[in-house]
Amino acid sequence: MSLKNKTALITGASSGIGKACAYALKEEGIRLILTGRNKIKLQELAKKMDASFIVADLQDDSEVEKLFNEAGTSIDILVNNAGIAPSASIIDGDISSFKDLLEVNVLALTHCCQLALKKFDSISGGQIVNISSMSGHRVPPSGGFYAATKFAVRAVTEALRFELKAQNNKTRVTMISPGFVDTPLLEKYFASDQEKLKKLRLELKMLDPNDIAETLKFILKTPNHVEIGDILLRPQDQKI
Ligand SMILES: NC(=O)c1ccc[n+]([C@@H]2O[C@H](COP(=O)([O-])OP(=O)(O)OC[C@H]3O[C@@H](n4cnc5c(N)ncnc54)[C@H](OP(=O)(O)O)[C@@H]3O)[C@@H](O)[C@H]2O)c1
Repeated sequence: MSLKNKTALITGASSGIGKACAYALKEEGIRLILTGRNKIKLQELAKKMDASFIVADLQDDSEVEKLFNEAGTSIDILVNNAGIAPSASIIDGDISSFKDLLEVNVLALTHCCQLALKKFDSISGGQIVNISSMSGHRVPPSGGFYAATKFAVRAVTEALRFELKAQNNKTRVTMISPGFVDTPLLEKYFASDQEKLKKLRLELKMLDPNDIAETLKFILKTPNHVEIGDILLRPQDQKI
């Protein structure tokens, strides 16, 4: 299915998976609206790919609303990718970092779904792709509160899909649930145990952000009658 001339809003487009997704969707002729907090990175990226960008801190509800107000009247695709992964041990993690995790990974993602739905075509609907994680399917030993937020992303995504169907809304809702992807997020996830990250990098070939971008393209290109629920992908060497 051609994606040419569709409009996609990608959150967390300034880095890692979001940035790779932006490049991949640009190749398909999609009009892009990139968002994140880092104005310099977004500006540079938007210039390279002739895209629009809007700076927004998704932890601030009013900035999320402003983002969608500025995004124009019509959006076809929302890639809910922005996320954080500070070390968040249940035993002694900082409670304020748990709040940040909930606000960015769960509440902002949900808020973006709500506002994107208002911008989708009222008859044909749109596509929402939430970037979850393998940590939304099983709790890894170092998953901590991060895993709790990704389980919540899965619940939000599935609840949204049922609510839309109950309203005969044609919008398709999908998740991508990756294992380890080589992005700056991992430095933060393993902040309290950098040796573990070093060891992991030696032990396994991590996914590349482009692997996720290709998966996104596959999802978006499926015909309208196909709704993929979730795609789980992990490095072949990843043990859990
Ligand atoms: N890397 C992995 O191993 C892995 C595995 C499974 C799932 N994931 C998920 O993949 C998604 C992308 O992660 P990544 O690995 O690409 O990480 P990353 O390189 O650290 O990128 C995270 C993105 O989120 C944005 N972001 C963070 N807080 C934000 C806020 N308050 N407001 C607006 N934007 C915010 C950042 O933009 P600014 O800094 O410009 O704000 C950045 O563009 C996340 O949802 C993550 O949980 C990652």
